[in-house]
This record gives sequence, C-alpha cells and structure tokens, in this order.
Amino acid sequence: MAEFDIDRFIELSGAVALDDLDWATCRKIGVTDSEERILRYMGDTETHTILYMKDLLGGHSAKDPAITNFLSVWVFEELWHGRAISRLLRECGRPEEADRYTKVTKGASVREAIEMVLSQATVYLTPRFIAGHMAWGAINELTAGAAYRALENRTENPVLAELLRRIVKQERKHFAFYYTQAKKRLEGDPKAQKLTSFILRNFWTVVGSGVGGWDNLSFIAASLFSDENGKIPLREAEATINELPGLEWFHLLTQQVDQLAKKHIKEHGPVPAWGKALPTAHVPEPAIA
Ligand SMILES: [Fe+2]
Ligand SMILES: [Fe+2]
Repeated sequence: MAEFDIDRFIELSGAVALDDLDWATCRKIGVTDSEERILRYMGDTETHTILYMKDLLGGHSAKDPAITNFLSVWVFEELWHGRAISRLLRECGRPEEADRYTKVTKGASVREAIEMVLSQATVYLTPRFIAGHMAWGAINELTAGAAYRALENRTENPVLAELLRRIVKQERKHFAFYYTQAKKRLEGDPKAQKLTSFILRNFWTVVGSGVGGWDNLSFIAASLFSDENGKIPLREAEATINELPGLEWFHLLTQQVDQLAKKHIKEHGPVPAWGKALPTAHVPEPAIA
C-alpha cells in the first residue's frame, strides 16, 4: 500500500453528502425491521466514536502530528456517518428517542475496555503502544466497511445502498491511514509486534460491542455473516490484517463473529429472511479515492 497522504486526506474530508439523495424514494421504500436494528447498532457506534478516541489521546499517539491531524478529521466523519444513518431512519418513519445518545452512553462499556488496555502501565508508557492503537483501528475500519458492504448488497432500498457506498468510501480511507501507520510501526520491530499481539489477544472485541450491546451484535452476525457468501468479506478483511508484520495469527474477527452468529441462531432460531439474496460472485473492494 502506498504512503498515506494526510494533507490530501484532510483536503478531501468532510461530512458524508446527504442533500442530493432521493429522499422521496427512500421514504416510499422504507427499511425492514432487520435493517433498522443493524443500522441502529452501526449508527450508535459511529456517534460514540469520540469515546474510543478520548482516553487514547492521553498517550503517545497524541505526540504524533499525523495521527492527531487524522483523528481530528476521523472523529468528525464518523459522527456524520451516525447522523446520516439517523436521518435515513427518520425519513423511513423510524425516528430515534430524543435522549438516545445519553441512554446509549450510560450503557456503554467501551471506556472500560479501553481503560483496561491503558491500565497496563507498561503498555501505555511505551511509544510502541501506537502500533497497537493503529492495528486496532485498521481492524475496526475493515469490519465496519464489511458490515456496510454486506448491508448494501442485501438492501432493497437504493437510497440506503447509495448512502452506504458513500460511507464505505470514507471507511476505506480511514482504514488506509491506520493500516499504513500500523505497518510502518510493526515492520522490523519484534517488540512492537509482541505488544500489539498482546493488546489484541487480551482486549480486542468486535467494534461496537461495548456501545451497541452483544445481543444486537449477535443479531448482525447472524443476519449478515452466517452463510458462506456472507463470510467472504470478513475473511478478506482478516487476510489483509494477517499481512501486517506479526499479525499472521489474527483470526479473532471471524472466530468471534462465527460464535456470535451461532449463539444467536441457537437462542432465537434462524434470522427472518430479508432483502436480496447475496450475489454468488465475489464483491470487489471499492477503490480508495
Ligand atoms: Fe464510520
Ligand atoms: Fe471509519
């Protein structure tokens, strides 16, 4: 992957465009209950992005100007992903409660997860911690992108599909930053590789689990990633992470999602059919702009 151009990223950054979407068609077609549940989880995760960033910024990551520049834009774009999803659900007659942000924040355990990582003082005090932070970010961006693409392939609402394409384009750029940073910091540094593996093995869970709840995450796993076709984007994401130095062992993403999907199906039965059948052909990654 080529070097990430942070200046170009900032120049091209911004809120995901909404004004030109065909909202009348969107309202007419609406979304299914399954789509609402998936979108609500994703939207809550997006609007709570700042919680992930807050504590991490106390450490070495804050001393690197490329990282602080990136994170400033990243948190803004993620917030807009959440706002865009809320708008779409509202247009489809499924508004959220006025106090949703506060309610979700109260139940969020994301801070605890991050604090657990940071409470390992030796982890926090070394600049090598940044490699773990960047690898963690790369995994989460790929996972979010895979979930949005899976939903985009399934939905019968073309306006939702278009919005998801726009969001995925930004997620790919976020991924590119985290990934190039992680690679640079892991290459030729066995200590950074060991530390990153330690952080991921001991603390990493699928993105949003602390904010959106395990029940909803299990539902998403069963809805989007339980059949062979659905698993392809996750396997691809994991193979990309496996190319990072020292992370060839990382299979937690497919393992956790698989377990969650099985758990959901065992407890609630198969998820109701919805949306279009997935194409059997391989879905290519969108190009990074
Ligand atoms: Fe996002
Ligand atoms: Fe993102």
